[in-house]
Amino acid sequence: MQYDVDYIRKQFPALSIKVNGYPAAYFDGPGGTQVPQRVIDAVVDYLVRCNANAGGCFLNSRESDLVINGARRAMADFIGSDPDEVAFGQNTTTLMYQLALALGREAGSRNEILITEIDHEANRGPWLALKERGFTIREARFDTETCTLDMDDFKSKLNEKTYVAAFNYASNGVGTISDVKEMVRLAHSAGAIAVVDAVHYALHGPIDVKELGTDYLLCSAYKFFGPHVGIFYGRREQFEKLPAYRLRVQSGTIPCRIETGTLNHEGIAGASEAVEFIADIGKRFGGSTLSSSGDHGESLTGRRKNVIAGMVAMEQYEQPLAQIMIDELSGMKKVKVYGPPQDHPRTSTVSFTVEGVPADRVAAELGEKGLFVWDGHFYASRLVERLGLDQSGGLVRIGLSPYNTAEEIGRLLEEVNKIAR
Ligand SMILES: Cc1ncc(COP(=O)(O)O)c(C=O)c1O
Repeated sequence: MQYDVDYIRKQFPALSIKVNGYPAAYFDGPGGTQVPQRVIDAVVDYLVRCNANAGGCFLNSRESDLVINGARRAMADFIGSDPDEVAFGQNTTTLMYQLALALGREAGSRNEILITEIDHEANRGPWLALKERGFTIREARFDTETCTLDMDDFKSKLNEKTYVAAFNYASNGVGTISDVKEMVRLAHSAGAIAVVDAVHYALHGPIDVKELGTDYLLCSAYKFFGPHVGIFYGRREQFEKLPAYRLRVQSGTIPCRIETGTLNHEGIAGASEAVEFIADIGKRFGGSTLSSSGDHGESLTGRRKNVIAGMVAMEQYEQPLAQIMIDELSGMKKVKVYGPPQDHPRTSTVSFTVEGVPADRVAAELGEKGLFVWDGHFYASRLVERLGLDQSGGLVRIGLSPYNTAEEIGRLLEEVNKIAR
């Protein structure tokens, strides 16, 4: 069946709100998507039916354990891992700090960490904090001409002292998708641990941690239709020896060894349902995508297969819409679009500036018309500094989600055109 955006939209109650009489159009997906009713129902259902702490010998606690274990299976289908390689936490930033502080305890003779200028601060700050422990932090260059990571520079900064290489799958600032499989390979050939921030990418394509070979991968459910919950993947061989800070009484087995305190159970229930939502999209609209995409093996079955089909179907819907935005914005005289070259992999996230109008004014004017976009640096602050935009208010960012329509994009482009005139 062909992708039916009306079917998708009907599931999101938030899409019905109005601003000054204008229907709200959410272009803020990279900051967090809206939530379908079935996810809201799953959160409520958890609180009504299962609400209890984990590991008890009574009904609700057992139900609660079932929900959490089910969510690990769902998330494993989302990223292609085993369920016990999936841990939950507050958000990616907090989990990244936990990871960095843990790894920083046992580095042996390796004392360099490679981060990048294209990354969100969540995948920079936790590693920069290890300077205090004597680590040298090196930074792979962001190429401001092409809005891509300079792979030669990345390669040249890996060596026998590199302990960790940490990089994103896709940039939340300019939408560039990096060749993470190659970056993991390069990191491993230098003997380093590879850490992937997949927060922005997770809304825009299927993730396969085994295929990537990464040691760790983090993402956040609120970027793909779930509640505010962080997801942590650790490759078994690494995760089992991760010296995570934990309480004396806390289990040392994976995945619990990094899960401090009581988790956000209702959020986890919702995150699990978000995966079901994506799988449903795959089941309905992904029929042809799996066979045509070709990359994902015939051996896939069940929910994993549907999740991949769903991710592919959403992106196939969004990419042509993103291209229209890029073409139209690029044609506006005072607008400058920032992003990778035409043939480079990218998400449907498009950033730009308007000459003489600060990004927050553009966003505020659009907001008055019910067009919700982000402005500033979105914590991709090093990238924005490198683009020389940190003093002038940064970028305006339009992020497409699978519920955006061509009509919404038309409205948006018309308003940007008026502002840029
Ligand atoms: C690429 C990227 N990494 C990390 C984060 C931080 O995620 P969290 O808010 O879950 O800590 C974000 C949030 O926008 C992001 O876009």
